[in-house]
Amino acid sequence: MSEPTTTEVKEVAFFGPTGGCALAALKLALESGCRCSALARRPSHLLSQLSTLPPNILENLTITEGNVQTPTAVLETLRSQTNPSLPRKYIISGIGGAPKFGLNPFRPTLDNPHICQEAAEAVLSGLRELKSGVTEGEWQQPLMAVISSTGLAPGELPFVMKPLYGMLKHPHDDKLKMEGVVATAEEGLLKWVVVRAGLMTDGPAGGAVRAGYAGRVKNGNEKWGDVEGVAVGYRISRGDVGRWLFEEVIGQDGGEWVGKRVCLVY
Ligand SMILES: NC(=O)c1ccc[n+]([C@@H]2O[C@H](COP(=O)([O-])OP(=O)(O)OC[C@H]3O[C@@H](n4cnc5c(N)ncnc54)[C@H](OP(=O)(O)O)[C@@H]3O)[C@@H](O)[C@H]2O)c1
Repeated sequence: MSEPTTTEVKEVAFFGPTGGCALAALKLALESGCRCSALARRPSHLLSQLSTLPPNILENLTITEGNVQTPTAVLETLRSQTNPSLPRKYIISGIGGAPKFGLNPFRPTLDNPHICQEAAEAVLSGLRELKSGVTEGEWQQPLMAVISSTGLAPGELPFVMKPLYGMLKHPHDDKLKMEGVVATAEEGLLKWVVVRAGLMTDGPAGGAVRAGYAGRVKNGNEKWGDVEGVAVGYRISRGDVGRWLFEEVIGQDGGEWVGKRVCLVY
């Protein structure tokens, strides 16, 4: 008689789950049977956004009420349900600030201009705390995806978008710092994927998403446009960013995108 096979239940921690990208990934993760945790400042708001999901699917979601600046709330969100000494295997952060317009309407800033950097630092602090409680051999590096923006490196933007992106200096400085926090973390703490998304829309998911990064070489599989180098484009829907995160980060353990700054556009 053959041994029964056990299928791994994937555990995913979400930060910023009420934002469109992370929300789309969270919905797909829950629908596919993942066990998810989410940090939300307003759990009732998140639950209303998920109200179309059947109650049995929502049983796989644990919401921690709190702010990303509260270490205990971050730690609670990170902990695996099966082994609370370890983090969940996947971490998706779509945290971002709300735009704030000051005296110069062409230079909007954010309600918290450092929120992305602070969120990344908070998650990494939580991971360090968990790692300090287990032996080196027990530690399992989670895969963390953070959502950043195109236009942070030369060659990522179509020419006509440059003036618009010039106005986004403050949010982009914060994104670059966030990227730096995850990319320069000490060896062995985590694996990471940076998603540099194009201008976001609330359009439907299912578009022809192209993904690329500096130095990428075509591999002939035609997936995500099989782009040579960086994917240059204008926009992408939040639903498609979430779909890509679900399919590639959770579904494929990050695949070829681990350790890369991946531009996602149509
Ligand atoms: N707009 C664009 O064209 C564009 C392009 C590229 C990248 N991005 C970036 O991509 C990311 C995702 O964007 P999105 O539109 O999907 O989401 P979003 O609408 O920017 O949502 C931000 C999320 O962060 C949460 N948040 C903010 N401050 C928090 C705090 N202190 N503690 C806990 N949670 C906090 C919000 O929660 P609440 O519900 O409690 O507010 C919300 O869930 C953002 O960083 C955004 O700046 C945007």
